[in-house]
Amino acid sequence: MDRASTPQGRLPEVPTRVTGLVMRELTPEDADAYYALLDRNRLHLSRLGDFRAEREATPAWVREHLGEDPGPDLRYGIRLDGELIGRIDLVAVDPPRYGTGYWLDESHVGAGYASAACSALYGHTARALGATEVFAGVTHGNDRSAALLRRLGFEPVADFEHYTRFRLVLVP
Ligand SMILES: CC(C)(COP(=O)(O)OP(=O)(O)OC[C@H]1O[C@@H](n2cnc3c(N)ncnc32)[C@H](O)[C@@H]1OP(=O)(O)O)[C@@H](O)C(=O)NCCC(=O)NCCS
Repeated sequence: MDRASTPQGRLPEVPTRVTGLVMRELTPEDADAYYALLDRNRLHLSRLGDFRAEREATPAWVREHLGEDPGPDLRYGIRLDGELIGRIDLVAVDPPRYGTGYWLDESHVGAGYASAACSALYGHTARALGATEVFAGVTHGNDRSAALLRRLGFEPVADFEHYTRFRLVLVP
């Protein structure tokens, strides 16, 4: 995608099939809202030993993190009726192959929002960037994440000591 062609050089907003649920790029302007979201989700994010940096987040860390240039990576906030409720990333590991990571505010889990958001973003990435495959690593025991990926059409392709690698082949 040509960042320069989007307003203020930003990524385009990505709608989902759920009314009021959209993805907009996470930027330094989101620092306060993103810190508040992280702060109330420290336990939720750290149950399986993942998200080490996030669970120790400070306002200064969040400002610095969101101020870093994401380069070719896509860093989106999941927003419901304007409120930030989660995050999805696509990492340009080896384009057109991408890695992904995602999380939702604990109080919004169980409503299909992550499915709707991931499905919309991966579809958008296939169309806009020509992405052909998306990979995700899921720590053993993260049943909700594995169930989400299976719903999206991912399949397990490799098993490691601490995690399983899942792959989604995107249909052009
Ligand atoms: C992984 C995570 C994002 C999954 O969130 P989720 O809400 O379970 O995922 P989905 O959006 O697919 O929602 C599925 C749930 O919504 C329900 N649902 C309701 N309406 C739905 C719809 N229209 N479509 C799909 N699911 C729907 C499903 O029945 C399911 O509920 P259940 O698990 O109680 O049966 C969330 O658990 C999370 O943030 N975990 C912590 C961070 C994390 O582990 N990230 C991943 C690292 S690999």
